[in-house]
Amino acid sequence: MSKYNKDLIYSKITNHHIGSKLIILDEVDSTNKYALSLLGNKPCVSGTVVVADSQYAGKGRLDRSWYSPKGVNLYLSVILMPGIKTEEVNILTFISSVATVNTLLEYGMSPEIKWPNDVLVNAKKISGVLTDINMEGNRLGHVIVGIGINLNVAIDSLSSGQVDNIATSVYIEQGEKVNRNEFLIKFLNNLDDCYDCYIKHGKAFIYKLWESRWNGRGKAVCVNTQDEQFAGRCVGLDNNGFMLVHNEKDETVRIVSGDVVYI
Ligand code: BTN
Repeated sequence: MSKYNKDLIYSKITNHHIGSKLIILDEVDSTNKYALSLLGNKPCVSGTVVVADSQYAGKGRLDRSWYSPKGVNLYLSVILMPGIKTEEVNILTFISSVATVNTLLEYGMSPEIKWPNDVLVNAKKISGVLTDINMEGNRLGHVIVGIGINLNVAIDSLSSGQVDNIATSVYIEQGEKVNRNEFLIKFLNNLDDCYDCYIKHGKAFIYKLWESRWNGRGKAVCVNTQDEQFAGRCVGLDNNGFMLVHNEKDETVRIVSGDVVYI
């Protein structure tokens, strides 16, 4: 599969912000780690995108790993400095899920979102987002939004990789390989549009887009957090994107971090 072509990507992105600087790497431990290392002491441009052809220590949520074989999928991190409060950082994850959904729609797929940030196709995971933050004193400094999207990985390779969930790729679903340069250009343009919408219209606008693709409302779930496991029903989101679950004790609980399994 073809390598990323920086000139082509620059020439086709219509962006104001996302992709203002593009760093393309052959192999890296994790694009999120690399992006964090860029913050160092020098000023770093908000909108910088780090893309890698492969990751040998790709990170997933909840201390999982992210299977990142060479030459097939998309692994990227975006550095943002949105000037928002720490509790509002989830919105960036939501923006990224919406951009992934919009890009997959352009490929004729029917993606759904599973809280907090998994994108699924035919009930199998095709993409995930991992957000890392850098604090400056007690203020939120930069935010690194890391996105992995399975594009051309084949089913036999997926099942031999360390994949926690049932996963899929565009290739597995569509039977045709995707041009990674084209996909990346579309994705960066969609991400920039969504970020721009958020800046202009606020987070309620993004939550509405996100909810229109969310597959969880009203579903019976088992919630797994670090401290507990319980059953309930998904009833919605609060205004910072945390999921609200009505439990068997008739209470509505806010889920800050964890996973849900539909039952
Ligand atoms: C998840 O567990 O669903 C989140 C997966 C996030 C993976 C991406 S790939 C690019 C970036 N670099 C990483 O190490 N992780 C994120």
